[in-house]
This record gives sequence, C-alpha cells and structure tokens, in this order.
Amino acid sequence: MNKKVALVTGSSKGIGKGIAKILVENDYIVYINGRDSKDLENSAKELENKVKTIKADLSDDKNIQEAIKNIIKTEKRLDLVVSNIGSGKSIMGWDVSIEEHKRVFDVNFFSAVSLANHSIKAMKNSRGHIIFIASIAGCESIGAPIAYSSAKTALYSFAKALSKNIAKLNIRVNTISPGNVMFEGSTWDDKIKNDKISVETYIQNNVPLNTFATPSDIAKTVMFLEESDFITGSNIVVDGGQLNKII
Ligand SMILES: NC(=O)c1ccc[n+]([C@@H]2O[C@H](COP(=O)([O-])OP(=O)(O)OC[C@H]3O[C@@H](n4cnc5c(N)ncnc54)[C@H](OP(=O)(O)O)[C@@H]3O)[C@@H](O)[C@H]2O)c1
Repeated sequence: MNKKVALVTGSSKGIGKGIAKILVENDYIVYINGRDSKDLENSAKELENKVKTIKADLSDDKNIQEAIKNIIKTEKRLDLVVSNIGSGKSIMGWDVSIEEHKRVFDVNFFSAVSLANHSIKAMKNSRGHIIFIASIAGCESIGAPIAYSSAKTALYSFAKALSKNIAKLNIRVNTISPGNVMFEGSTWDDKIKNDKISVETYIQNNVPLNTFATPSDIAKTVMFLEESDFITGSNIVVDGGQLNKII
C-alpha cells in the first residue's frame, strides 16, 4: 500500500541492476529495463522476481513515452526515475566525426533529456525525484573519449538548470558521477582480461582508495539522495578520491 514506484533505465546489468536491488530492498515497486529479454529475465530472477520488466530501447523518445504511460496506468504514480543508460564506448583522440559526437550525445544526453521530460509530466502529483547517472569524465578532463566527456558534462549542466525549473513542482533532480565501477561483464572487467597490469597500475596511480567502485556503492548514493529531501541540483561524485577539483 502506497509503495513508492521507481523506474531505472538500463538496469538488466551493472550499475542499474545494483540500483534496482537496493530499491527492492527498500520496498519500492521497481521497473527494470534492457533490450535483451534473457538478461532481463535473469536479473528479475536474481532480484527474486520482485521487479517488473520493460524490454525496450529506452534511449528512444517514443518508447520512453510509452513506458511511462504504462507505469502510470498500472501504478497511478511515479516517484523516482533513475536515468542510467549511457556508454563511454567511443573514439579516443581529437579526430572524431560529427556523426560520432551525435551518436554519443544521443545515448548519453538526449535519451536522458527525453526521459526527464516525460517523467516530469507523470510526476506532477507526487513529490518526484530524477537522478541522472553521469560520470567523473564529465566533471574533469581525465582522458576519456572527448564525445563521452562532453555529453556527461552537458548532462550535469542540464540537471542543474532543470532542478531550478521544476523545484516549484516539488520535483528534485540530482546527478551521481561514478568513478571506475567494476562488475562482471563491465568495461573494466574486459580491460582487466586484456591487460591486468596496466589496469592495476592505473588504479594505483589515480584512485587514492586504490580500488574500484561497485554497483552497490552507486546504489547506496541513490538511497542517500532519496532520503535527503533538501538536496536538489547536486552532483555527488563517487570515485574513491580520484578527482582533483575542490568544488
Ligand atoms: N561502468 C563504469 O565504470 C562507469 C563509470 C562512470 C559512469 N558510468 C555510467 O553509468 C551508467 C551505467 O553504466 P554500466 O557500466 O552499468 O553500463 P552497462 O554495463 O553497459 O549496462 C548497461 C545496461 O543498460 C542496458 N542498456 C543499454 N542501452 C540501453 C538502451 N538503449 N535501452 C535500454 N537498455 C539499455 C543494458 O542492457 P541491454 O544491452 O540488453 O539493453 C544493460 O542492462 C552509464 O550511464 C555509464 O556512462 C559507468
């Protein structure tokens, strides 16, 4: 009765799945999402079938609209949306085509903008909360692909402006910027399989806490933000001390 309803996009694996897990543990009705039925099914099983699934490409505006319409039809409310779809896979160096920049912005930025726009309309009657999963690559120049860094910086800027625009609707907006997150099948897992020593050296030289984050570290930050009613427009960095900026 009166359970909070959450949608976590891109959550059949990795960070999103970790976020879905903590929300289930905190008694939310949770919608997980991915494009692969098998992965979604497996994740739902892992989460003791306590989640509902949306198999769709939720970087697509029409699909987002449809998914949110269906959630409202079924649950009559939407309290939390975690915009987690994104990928750092792009081209290193300066010589990146405009098509590649646009592709990376579509995945990491415009999908999040669409999700926010449709979510706000659905949240108008509940004190909603939107959390964007960005990256430390958008906070400081750390050598990530240029298109990815730019898209994540844009995401934070969008979140900040949005938070001011929708505070009067009692909807909060925050960003989480993870550092290097390790889980089975992650980009870092692949990198370790290819060249363990380079990855270990990178972590030793760049991360003061000398380890990777886990999806659970990011999930705990989502819960912290959920419980912090006076925080909006903030970006929480979860990076083991990697960034050098002061503010
Ligand atoms: N991993 C890190 O070290 C790290 C660090 C900083 C920031 N981040 C950010 O954290 C977020 C999650 O990263 P991750 O490493 O957990 O990603 P991931 O391992 O690539 O997982 C992505 C999840 O999203 C789903 N997905 C991808 N595209 C989708 C789409 N268009 N529609 C629906 N589902 C989609 C995937 O399932 P399907 O492929 O089956 O759809 C999967 O469940 C991203 O925004 C990323 O930029 C990650």
